[in-house]
Amino acid sequence: MSTTPLKVAVTGAAGQIGYSLLFRLAAGALGDRPIELRLLEIEPALPSLEGVVMELDDCAFPLLAGVEIGADPAAIFSGVSVAMLVGAMPRKEGMDRADLLSANGKIFTGQGKALNDNAADDVKVLVTGNPANTNALIAMSNAPDIPNERFNALTRLDHNRAKTQLAKKLGVPVTEISQLAIWGNHDDSMYPDLFNTMVGGKSAAEQVDQAWITDEYIPTVATRGGAIIKARGASSAASAANATIDHMHDWLNGTSDWVSMSVPSDGSYGVTEGIVSSFPCTVTDGQYEIVQGIELNDFSKERIAASVARLEGERDQVKQLGLI
Ligand code: NAD
Ligand code: LMR
Repeated sequence: MSTTPLKVAVTGAAGQIGYSLLFRLAAGALGDRPIELRLLEIEPALPSLEGVVMELDDCAFPLLAGVEIGADPAAIFSGVSVAMLVGAMPRKEGMDRADLLSANGKIFTGQGKALNDNAADDVKVLVTGNPANTNALIAMSNAPDIPNERFNALTRLDHNRAKTQLAKKLGVPVTEISQLAIWGNHDDSMYPDLFNTMVGGKSAAEQVDQAWITDEYIPTVATRGGAIIKARGASSAASAANATIDHMHDWLNGTSDWVSMSVPSDGSYGVTEGIVSSFPCTVTDGQYEIVQGIELNDFSKERIAASVARLEGERDQVKQLGLI
């Protein structure tokens, strides 16, 4: 076990995702090594964040080597190897995630610059705050000295949702499912591909019918965030924190199956280069790779192209706003 604390920044730490995320991080969810938490909030939320830190203290977590809080990104990001960018406004019922671009996008210019100038050389940045893919593009574009591939966005929540919905349909445990992948944007155009997924060693698509995939499965996965907002009156929090941990855990420690990661496209599968889009990925030695050689049928190609078009639209919007 490494004894050097892993320096992990979390933004929006006093928010609802933060309240689930911090305790699991401090308990060792990223791996069995000491962790130092660097928590960024806006000034008015710092008193509330102090209360959360009191609760962290009260857990006496053996792996928690220190906690620092503040409202200055340069100080909080200093020397961090992991940055979880959660802090941003969540959408309300009736909104699309892209409606948040003008409100949230500018957060990620300043944070991209602050990471560029202050983070450790090996920093890995994961954006959860919505619209996550394009916010990651903004942060990446404002951090020219950090390699682009260190900027990811979260589609692991969609991946986990897609897994459970398929497991429930087929009456199998989630552990039976492999090679599942979300493609595209974390919005309602996302595409969960079942044509390459295996369940109990057999093709998933051959165990369900196309009408279920088109009319039930894809819409359920793609609109799950909205369904949770409707049911809870607030957007997903514990499951989002869980997915944020799953993504970073696997990026740091490696994978044994495909995972869905939104990463800067290298043009694989015709996805426009440079946009941050979800792909099936594997991770070895802290480096992810987009899985190559996957056969995509015409249905899949069409769905992926539609989601990529949404990402291109968001990219053009933030260009116009002068954020990239
Ligand atoms: P929340 O409103 O409970 O918390 C957000 C926190 O961010 C607040 O405490 C706020 O003060 C803070 N914040 C705002 N601007 C900041 C800044 N510039 N720097 C630091 N902190 C800042 O929201 P939440 O429920 O925790 O959700 C956070 C974000 O995550 C939202 O944008 C939400 O839509 C998104 N989200 C993404 C996914 C995903 O799968 N990608 C899932 C769930 C939620
Ligand atoms: C989710 O998918 O639950 C989050 O992105 C929150 C939202 O706005 O749907």
